[in-house]
Amino acid sequence: MVNAIVLYNSKSGNTKAVGLKIAEGLGCEAYDKKNCPKDFSRYDLVVAGSWMAAGMLMGANMFKKIAKNYSGKVALFFTSGGPEEEYPFGKEEGKPPKFIKDIMWEKMESKLRKNPNIEILVERYCCKGDIKFEKKKPDYVRKHPSDEDLQNAKTFGQSLKTGL
Ligand SMILES: Cc1cc2nc3c(=O)[nH]c(=O)nc-3n(C[C@H](O)[C@H](O)[C@H](O)COP(=O)(O)O)c2cc1C
Repeated sequence: MVNAIVLYNSKSGNTKAVGLKIAEGLGCEAYDKKNCPKDFSRYDLVVAGSWMAAGMLMGANMFKKIAKNYSGKVALFFTSGGPEEEYPFGKEEGKPPKFIKDIMWEKMESKLRKNPNIEILVERYCCKGDIKFEKKKPDYVRKHPSDEDLQNAKTFGQSLKTGL
């Protein structure tokens, strides 16, 4: 068993499903942020993931808590309706478009950067997550995370073992 932990914040289960697959690939435990261990100091790697609602990073507190209680490597993941879609909020005239995944990485990283002893890994994972309770949703989110998304999450977890 590697000395790592996967933490997830998930409302409708997409991020949880991805987090569990990453943990399976890594060979470690995965916890909901609501009942995770209080102290992360014993881990060599924390893998943390959440989701987006209305352009906001949900569960920002989880990242703040990691920044407060941990020094070491952190890998990030998330699910959202359209990680590759253009970010619809706060468009600036004349500036290149931002994409949801760039915004999400930026939001998660900014919380963690409060602690200079955290090393944010360049390896990261995101995929689409179905908006389960929404009838009027874009077709591209349906049935995600798909089997392929979950397999990719597992492979991502396996890849994180290198370097531990
Ligand atoms: C109220 C609500 C607002 C959402 N807003 C966005 C959004 O702004 N951008 C986006 O890409 N996805 C958005 N989504 C889609 C979620 O990010 C996606 O369904 C995610 O996988 C949910 O994660 P969970 O199942 O772990 O809770 C929204 C979903 C809900 C329910």
